Amino acid sequence: MQKRMMITGAGSGLGREIALRWAREGWQLALADVNESGLAETLQLVRAAGGDGFTLRCDVRDYSQLTAVAQACEERFGGLDVLVNNAGVSAGGFFGDLSLEDWDWQLAINLMGVIKGCKAFLPLLLQSKGRIINIASMAALMQGPAMSNYNVAKAGVVALSESLLPELKPQGVSVHVVCPSFFQTNLLDSFRGPTPAMKQQVGKLLEQSPISATDIADYIYQEVAKGEFMILPHEQGRMAWQIKRQNPQAIYDEMTLMCEKMRSKLGAA
Ligand SMILES: NC(=O)c1ccc[n+]([C@@H]2O[C@H](COP(=O)([O-])OP(=O)(O)OC[C@H]3O[C@@H](n4cnc5c(N)ncnc54)[C@H](O)[C@@H]3O)[C@@H](O)[C@H]2O)c1
Repeated sequence: MQKRMMITGAGSGLGREIALRWAREGWQLALADVNESGLAETLQLVRAAGGDGFTLRCDVRDYSQLTAVAQACEERFGGLDVLVNNAGVSAGGFFGDLSLEDWDWQLAINLMGVIKGCKAFLPLLLQSKGRIINIASMAALMQGPAMSNYNVAKAGVVALSESLLPELKPQGVSVHVVCPSFFQTNLLDSFRGPTPAMKQQVGKLLEQSPISATDIADYIYQEVAKGEFMILPHEQGRMAWQIKRQNPQAIYDEMTLMCEKMRSKLGAA
């Protein structure tokens, strides 16, 4: 039987590339996003790559929309083998400038969206003894400057994944969490923050990545096949994470310097 995957945020960026990587192996894809034109393009590309599937508009903030996608997977695919919680938005700003609404918005999509995804699809994954792949970020591990709401949401995704790993393993469900550093996608379009200059800073960071969303999707494919739990696609990210585990203070000092630099740059802007 053909294997089946459902991806949130599949209308753009990494979600689309994950769809294409698995499509090349002949998988059936359920593609969900709030961006319906992006979804239609992804489905076309999926078909051209050798896969097939269907699209559904789904806002990950709304649990009933996620359970509707789960139901569609059951009706159209007869179940699901892999869930990818990928949908996400970008944010930035110093803590003192972020409003509580900025926090609510960020946590509702980047953290609660993943929690709701896991909950909505768990019954199908228990049936198939499937997998969960959660897309977090290096921000979960390194807490970059002036993005506390994003850092907290992504650290929550890592903590959720670490909690589900031992809970679901005896029931036959595997869990993986992916922590990429910055890479070029349309992520900046969703940016929300109190200062426009911060958006420009994030834009520069996205442009600097030595690897693309296509490379990252391929790396995820390889590491999932090896059964790796924590997947860090950027080499620099893997090195930084090693340093943080050996000497966390070195990273805190580095982040303090980066914060000071950012403050003076933004102050001058
Ligand atoms: N690009 C990076 O530098 C980077 C780095 C680390 C982690 N990530 C993570 O990778 C994931 C994919 O992001 P991307 O870089 O491909 O960005 P992207 O903006 O190209 O794609 C994100 C997709 O999520 C969708 N989305 C946003 N809010 C949604 C909602 N409420 N419900 C459903 N769909 C929604 C968007 O419409 C978009 O199609 C995100 O979780 C992001 O945080 C990205």
